[in-house]
Amino acid sequence: MRKNIVAGNWKMNLDYEKGLSLFSEIVNMVKDEVVGNQEVIVCSPAIHLSSLAKLAAPVKNVTVGGQNIHQAESGAYTGEVSASQVKSTGAAYVILGHSERRAYFGETDELLAEKVDAALKHDLKPIFCIGETIEERENERFFEIIQSQLDKGVFHLSNADFGQVVLAYEPVWAIGTGLTATPAQAQEVHAYIREAIANKYNQEIADNTTILYGGSANPGNAKELFSQPDIDGGLIGGASLKSRDFLDIVKVFN
Ligand code: G3H
Repeated sequence: MRKNIVAGNWKMNLDYEKGLSLFSEIVNMVKDEVVGNQEVIVCSPAIHLSSLAKLAAPVKNVTVGGQNIHQAESGAYTGEVSASQVKSTGAAYVILGHSERRAYFGETDELLAEKVDAALKHDLKPIFCIGETIEERENERFFEIIQSQLDKGVFHLSNADFGQVVLAYEPVWAIGTGLTATPAQAQEVHAYIREAIANKYNQEIADNTTILYGGSANPGNAKELFSQPDIDGGLIGGASLKSRDFLDIVKVFN
C-alpha cells in the first residue's frame, strides 16, 4: 500500500548554518518521537543538500530532496542545477511543478514534463505539484485544470515510472495565505486525482500513489486533513521552518 509522507519545503529560506541546525533538530526529534512508518522528507535549497543527506543517512525514514532541477543533462546553463547533481548529493526527491516555479519562472506543463523525465532518468523521485488558482476555483474549473496538469506533466510516463512519482495537490490560493482548503474540499480533489490515475493507468497504481496536500497546513489542521481517505500526508511550507510545528505534523501518523 501507499506510503504516508510529510515533506517540508523550505523554499528560499535559511542560510547554511541555520539550515543544518534546524535539520539536526528535526532528525533528533524524529529519532525520539516518531513511531510510525511515515516518511519525512526535507526539500532544502541546493546548498544544504549534501550536508543534510549525510545527517539523514543513519536515520530510518528521513530523506532529503531538492526544489528544482534543469531539464538538460549538463552544460552551459549558468546558475542551474541538474538532476544528476542533485542526486549526487544523496537527495532522493525533487519538487517539480510548484506553483511558485510555474508563476514566477514561467515553467510550463511541457517544460515540467521534461524535468520529470530528467529526474526519473537519474533516479530522483518527483514530488509533482498541481493546483488551481483562486479564479479557477471560483469559476469551478479546478477539475479541468488538475486533469490538464496531470495529462501534460506526468501522464506520459510508463506504469513503472509513474510508480516513482509522489503527487501534491496545492491549491494556489491556500499557499502561504493561511487559507487552508477545508478537509472536504481537499478530499474532493484528491479523490478526483486518484480516479484520474485509475483511468489513465489502473486501480492498483492509483491505490499505490501517495497524494500530498499543501497549502497552509499546520499542527492545528493536519490531523483532520490527513484523516481524509485520499490524503496521504502533506507538503509543508511555512510550518516546516519550525522544528516543533513540523514534527507535530509528522506525528499525525504516529
Ligand atoms: O510547498 C509548500 C507549499 O507551497 C505550502 O506552503 O505551507 O507555507 O502554505 P505553506
